[in-house]
Amino acid sequence: MKNFFLINYGCQMNVLEAEKMKGLLIAEGYEEAPDEFNSDVVIMNTCAVRETAERKIFGKIGQIRKHGRPGLLIAVCGCVTQVSGESIFEKYPGIDIVLGSGNKMNIAAYLSKAGSSARILDLGNGPERDSAECAQLAKRGSEYSAFIEIMKGCDNFCAYCIVPYARGGEVSLPPVLVLDEIKMLIDRGYKEFTLLGQNVNSYGKKFADGSERRFRFHDLLGEIEKIKGIFRLRFITSHPRDLSSETIDVMASSGIIAHSLHLPAQSGSDRILKAMNRGYTISEYLEKVERLKKDIPGFAFTTDIIFGFPGETESDYRDTLNLMERVRFKNAFLFRYSERRKTAASGISEGLVDNEEKLSRLQNAIEIQKKISLEESIGYVGATKNVLFSSLDRKGRNISGRDTHDMIVIVENNMDKLGTVRDVLIERANSFTLYGRLKSA
Ligand code: 5AD
Ligand code: SF4
Repeated sequence: MKNFFLINYGCQMNVLEAEKMKGLLIAEGYEEAPDEFNSDVVIMNTCAVRETAERKIFGKIGQIRKHGRPGLLIAVCGCVTQVSGESIFEKYPGIDIVLGSGNKMNIAAYLSKAGSSARILDLGNGPERDSAECAQLAKRGSEYSAFIEIMKGCDNFCAYCIVPYARGGEVSLPPVLVLDEIKMLIDRGYKEFTLLGQNVNSYGKKFADGSERRFRFHDLLGEIEKIKGIFRLRFITSHPRDLSSETIDVMASSGIIAHSLHLPAQSGSDRILKAMNRGYTISEYLEKVERLKKDIPGFAFTTDIIFGFPGETESDYRDTLNLMERVRFKNAFLFRYSERRKTAASGISEGLVDNEEKLSRLQNAIEIQKKISLEESIGYVGATKNVLFSSLDRKGRNISGRDTHDMIVIVENNMDKLGTVRDVLIERANSFTLYGRLKSA
C-alpha cells in the first residue's frame, strides 16, 4: 500500500479535478498522507495563469526533494506542464512523472508504471476516463456543496491568457451527464451546486459528438431548476460578452440561482478591452450589470481585473478605477499583468508598463477595493441571511457557508448544524466575511 499527497494550485476547475484524482487513487488502494513530507507520492496539480503561480510550484518541488521521504515519486500535472512540455525536466530535474491537462485522471496507471528509473512524460489525452465514474468517486471538500463540471477548455484567446493553450478548445458535456451528476449528489445529501467552466455562458457551443447550439446555457439552467432538492445554484466563470439576455431572465425568475455573479471585467477602458480581445465595451458590460441590479434587487458582483496590460495609460487606469467605483464589486481579484509565452500579448513590444508602475497601480486599486468591500459587507449587518452551512471554518470550530450574495457567513460553534439551511442574523462584518447568530427555527 502506498500513500499520496496532492497539492493543488489554481482555479476551481483544478480544485474539482484534484477531488476526482484523489477519489480515483483511493479507489485504486492508495491512502491520503497527512502532508507532503510523509508521503510516498506527491502530486502537484499546477496552474500557469501567472508567473508567480508557476514560481511557487517549483520552489515547492525543491523543498519536497530536500525534506520528503527518500525515493518518493513526484508527479506534476496540469496547466504548467501542458504549456512547458518536455523542457520541464531540464529546468526541474526533481520530477519523475509529467502529465498534461487531458490525462490527469489516469494518474494511478502512470504511478504503477513508474518506479523503474525512467521518467514518464505524457501530454496527450490518454484513454478517456468515464466522467460519471470520476464524479462518483471524487473525494469532495464538502459533503453538502459540490462543483459540477459542465464544459472543458476555452476558445476565447484573450490576448493575455494561457488557458486555451493549457486546456485546449471548448467542449461542453452532455446535459444528461450534468443532470445525472447533480441527482446522484442530491441522493448523497448535497444541496448546493456550482457549475464550472472557463466560459459557462457559451455552454452548448460545441459538444463532444460534434453537435452544436441546440441546447444552450439557459436551457441547462432551466433543466437543473426542475430537479427537486437543490437549495442554491451558482456558476463560474461568466464572460461579459456571452452572458445572454435569456440567462438573465432565467436568473431573475429562479428560486435557486444565487443573487451574485462573478463577471470578470479585466479593464475599465474600451481601448484596453479591445487590445485584450475581450469582445465587449464598458457600456455593454454596464448594461448587463445594470439590468441584473434592476431585475434582482441587491444583486452582488465580483470581478477579475488586470493592471498594467501593455499599452495601459494613466487614463485607461483611471477608467478602470471608475468602473470599480461605479459597479462597487463586493470583491475583486486584482492582478498585475504577467506576460505568458505563446499568448498574443507576449508579442507586444510597445507601450509596456514597467513593473514598478504596474505594482503601484495594483496596490492603489487594492486599497480602493478594500474600502468598497468593507462598506458593502458592513451594509449587511442587521440583515437576515439564509445559509447552507456546508463546511467548518478554518479554525475547525465554527460552521461556515455562503449566502446568496456569495458572502462567507460564519456562526460560532453549532457544529451539529453542519449541512442544514438556517436563517442567520448578521452581527458584524469584515471585508469578505459576515459573522452572526442563528435565528430560532
Ligand atoms: N496576467 C495577469 N492576470 C491574468 N489572468 C489571466 N491571465 C493573466 C495574465 N497573463 C487573470 C484574469 C483572469 C484570472 C483567472 O486571472 O483576470 O480572469
Ligand atoms: Fe490556472 Fe487557468 Fe489552468 Fe485554471 S485553467 S489551473 S486558472 S491556468
